[in-house]
Amino acid sequence: MIELIIIAIWLMLPAYVPNPLAAVFGGGKPIDGGRTMGDGKRILGDGKTYRGLLVGITCGLLIGLLQMGLVSNGIAVSGVTLPAFGISTAGSVIVILAMSCGSLFGDMFMSFFKRRLGLKRGAPLPVIDQLDFVLGAWMFTYLASPVWFTANFSAWLIVTVLVITPMLHLVTNIIGYFIGVKNEPW
Ligand code: CTP
Ligand code: MG
Repeated sequence: MIELIIIAIWLMLPAYVPNPLAAVFGGGKPIDGGRTMGDGKRILGDGKTYRGLLVGITCGLLIGLLQMGLVSNGIAVSGVTLPAFGISTAGSVIVILAMSCGSLFGDMFMSFFKRRLGLKRGAPLPVIDQLDFVLGAWMFTYLASPVWFTANFSAWLIVTVLVITPMLHLVTNIIGYFIGVKNEPW
């Protein structure tokens, strides 16, 4: 149980880091350039910016590279040996990039979906808000390296991630709200 949680957080870290970092350092020009769709609603909204995307992906990559360095030194946390992101260096970098890009693209895709539902920027969409980036990260990672993905994400690990992520998300967003980088505590 504890082992599953440790491995889940470890493997998901390059997908967890991009969103909060985008919230801290994002802003500026929105990706949709302020454009609306035929329904009169914004394509993505002001909450999805180029800077957030770039900073987020970069930070996800950096944390992953750091993790790769730790793995090569055989890092263990409370007796649990932490897994690598691939069998080769190039393979690991690809998985890490897929995780961090997938995380932000999943989030962006759901903003598109939220705007189509008529929800304003920042309006909550329970469950989706908490898991969109996880699903995006998994989809990208599966496409980038199906072998690594299926070998590492067992059914139990997937369940663990689906259970712990909303809790971690809630805690980070409450922190983000109080330090002033999030407009809403969700
Ligand atoms: N952010 C950004 N660029 C991104 C993703 C996030 O600049 N690609 C920043 C924005 O400042 C955004 C904040 O991170 O307001 C929080 O992200 P999120 O909760 O995903 O955006 P919301 O403002 O809630 O908008 P939405 O309703 O579209 O989810
Ligand atoms: Mg939001």
